Amino acid sequence: MIPYKHEPFTDFSQKDNQKAFKEGLKAVGSYLGQDYPLIIGGERVTTEDKIVSVNPANKEELIGRVSKADKDLAEKAMNVAYDTFQTWRKVKPETRADILFRASAIVRRRKHEFSALLTKEAGKPWKEADADTAEAIDFMEYYGRQMLRIKDGFPVESRPGEYNQFNYIPLGVGVVISPWNFAFAIMAGTAVAAIVSGNTVLLKPASTTSVVAAKFIEVLEEAGLPAGVINYVPGSGAEVGDYLVDHPKTRFISFTGSREVGTRIYERAAMVHKGQKWLKRVIAEMGGKDTIVVDSEGDLELAAQSIVASAFGFSGQKCSACSRAVIVEDVYDRVLDRAVELTKELTVGDPVDNDNFMGPVIDQASFDKIMSYVEIGKEEGKLMIGGEGDNSKGFFVKPTIFADVAPDARLMQEEIFGPVVAFSKAKDFDHALEIANNTEYGLTGAVITNNRAKIEQAREDFHVGNLYFNRGCTGAIVGYQPFGGFNMSGTDSKAGGPDYLLLHMQAKTTSETL
Ligand code: NAD
Ligand code: ALA
Repeated sequence: MIPYKHEPFTDFSQKDNQKAFKEGLKAVGSYLGQDYPLIIGGERVTTEDKIVSVNPANKEELIGRVSKADKDLAEKAMNVAYDTFQTWRKVKPETRADILFRASAIVRRRKHEFSALLTKEAGKPWKEADADTAEAIDFMEYYGRQMLRIKDGFPVESRPGEYNQFNYIPLGVGVVISPWNFAFAIMAGTAVAAIVSGNTVLLKPASTTSVVAAKFIEVLEEAGLPAGVINYVPGSGAEVGDYLVDHPKTRFISFTGSREVGTRIYERAAMVHKGQKWLKRVIAEMGGKDTIVVDSEGDLELAAQSIVASAFGFSGQKCSACSRAVIVEDVYDRVLDRAVELTKELTVGDPVDNDNFMGPVIDQASFDKIMSYVEIGKEEGKLMIGGEGDNSKGFFVKPTIFADVAPDARLMQEEIFGPVVAFSKAKDFDHALEIANNTEYGLTGAVITNNRAKIEQAREDFHVGNLYFNRGCTGAIVGYQPFGGFNMSGTDSKAGGPDYLLLHMQAKTTSETL
């Protein structure tokens, strides 16, 4: 087996790669506007009621119309997944892993087509779309290998005349609920982690990006995944989501999304319903309010560049995005001024054009939310740049910087999920860490300093799941920087990490007298 290595990113300064991406856009263009059925036990089910997926850069452009599950169809899918679990759990781990490797190979061959679909459906600039597709490939390659590594369990002691074993077995039916912002990587990663560890899945993707999920199910089928192992049930969170979360046959829920929905799922899943034989497990990856701390002994150019890239990449719509820049006071003005200068150079527009750094935000609700925070920001700080939006054709918001924001201001505490970053001044490095930790979240963070003692201090005291030094706070890579946050950022799991599959399994001890 070739050792795992992450999928390289595409260099779009190369003409050949530009051409390949444009071919991808052409391929996607050939199927824009199509209808997609639900997939339950391999059967295609078409409903009258549809989710309509549009291009956020151009509201007029239809990406696809996706059939919408209701409670009856969710029930049907649950029964199929429940029955299929009885056979899938006995399929050898090697066979399950092979399906992931084959699916990964198929996606790699169609890499630019998938990325182009993300550009159209999620509004991702080429580079961001390419990273999303690469991460989906990485999840399949990494989790396949991880399953092979853990398939025989862990060694335990045996006394004379005794043979003890400690193995991991799957849990049962998992409900996988995914977000739109890593519409391919997180959707695929959370689904295949559950599948490769022997569970069956009901996949409810985010409505705004349900076409890319439908395309991925086709890939899994082509790779040889038996019918019923994954069931595609897009639908309303309130109707289908609640129904599946409450269902007594649901064994676990793997959710990635907002804190609001995540905590609701966590609460509901704690209830034991009639006929339920277990306590449900919840893996929840939720929001972030992520900080870059800049110390007076840091590289200030690197600091400004890291803040701008982490705050505005994919329009700030990453759970890992930098939404707070906390700068020690003697270098505050210099970093702020430079960040404003760099932001002036950023272009916003349709992401099909690779010259645009930023595309749109995902939808009208998101646009409205971000613009409302811009108004709040004008009360709480000083608008340095941006603050404008245009939703006439698509949902575009200019990259926005607010200065002199107090640590407890709403702009410094609430997840905006858009291209808005608040700058706050700290008295010294200790104070900067105190401000950084002053949030209910704990997902990512970065520290820019050349002082070794301060790096070590932050390593101990900056309480986030992913902490970076002398770089930005986005862009974790599967198998290299396992990803997931503390506190209200989730249940402390690490996607793309060596213990992630175990969250989808339970340990069984057997002891045989010889
Ligand atoms: P969201 O919470 O609105 O939706 C996430 C998913 O939950 C969607 O599929 C949605 O349809 C579903 N849902 C909504 N209501 C539901 C209900 N009652 N029951 C079950 N499912 C329901 O989040 P979003 O807008 O899609 O994504 C953005 C959020 O995700 C941000 O808060 C971001 O920080 C977070 N996120 C976190 C991570 C992480 O790894 N921690 C990664 C990506 C995104
Ligand atoms: N894994 C993504 C990042 O690190 C969210 O930016």
